[in-house]
Amino acid sequence: MAELHDADRRDFLGLAGKAGLTTMFAQAVGVNLGLVDVAHAAKVTPFRFAIIADPHLYSPKDHVFDKHLEDAVAKVNGLANAPDFVFVMGDVSHHGELDQLEKGKRILGKLKAPIRSIPGEHDWYLDMGEGWKKNFGDEFWSFDHKGVHFIGLNSILVPDFWTKAGLTPQQRRDCFMPLNSPVPGLWGTDARQREWLKKDVAKLPTNTPIVIFTHSPLWDYYPRWNFQVSDSKEIRQILSKFSNVMAFHGHVHHTVYNKIGNLTSLGTMSTSWPWPYPPIKLPHPEYQQFRADPSVTTDGMGAASIGIGADGRGMVQYLPFEDSLPQRLTDGFKI
Ligand SMILES: [Fe+2]
Ligand SMILES: [Fe+2]
Repeated sequence: MAELHDADRRDFLGLAGKAGLTTMFAQAVGVNLGLVDVAHAAKVTPFRFAIIADPHLYSPKDHVFDKHLEDAVAKVNGLANAPDFVFVMGDVSHHGELDQLEKGKRILGKLKAPIRSIPGEHDWYLDMGEGWKKNFGDEFWSFDHKGVHFIGLNSILVPDFWTKAGLTPQQRRDCFMPLNSPVPGLWGTDARQREWLKKDVAKLPTNTPIVIFTHSPLWDYYPRWNFQVSDSKEIRQILSKFSNVMAFHGHVHHTVYNKIGNLTSLGTMSTSWPWPYPPIKLPHPEYQQFRADPSVTTDGMGAASIGIGADGRGMVQYLPFEDSLPQRLTDGFKI
């Protein structure tokens, strides 16, 4: 929380105080609070995309998480307004095994829309991303679509701690399995991606709506569980010239909202299990997602659908497996 408690906190509190909680409610009744200068938004052709996060597939052929992912695929395929893309937020596999990654590709292949993916730590550290890249492509990328610039980054990279320690690939991978493992340290993107990102956005007009995907959040949510990206401040700085940046992440396996300057950050539900909220006060106006029934194994899980309007702003709609989210979140709120 260092960043939030320092310079960004002033920014964040200013915005939140003026518009945060009010925004989330007021948007439901169509009030424009002016967080984004709509008049100067780029020309955008309205469209929709979907998000599926953290399937954590295991090796057995009939594992229950396969069914969860299939349900998410069916939910997305069944959307009345079809998405142009589905973004997969990482941790497709639980152990990084090739059969798990291939199973993920096979199930996600049933989506009607094309997918774009970014890696999670569970996908990466058994073979340093070889199997993931073989199945899901480049670890970082960008493209333009209907007036919006999309960016995906690999945010789970750490300096080499395994070679000197003589760890096997399995031992290296296992250091990333617990949420609170201190061994790998804080992860982030790297200099290579930051340099690429600077060039990637250099020529874009500042009114271009930006949508960026990272496995973990682009702010210090709870670093002890790697609910962070170590160089998030630099990434936000590179994107600071844009009027509206929408950032989506997985990894935390629950919904969480924050706004820092021009960047709105949203965590998405997983299809595997919900992580608990960390023992901190959530940024205003977020509140903990309500889990109505612990005996329902898919409570607190699902996917998300995002509509981009002609004003370049996103309307986020969560697609929970169970109806445990407040109606206004499943109805959608604007970012
Ligand atoms: Fe995960
Ligand atoms: Fe993760």
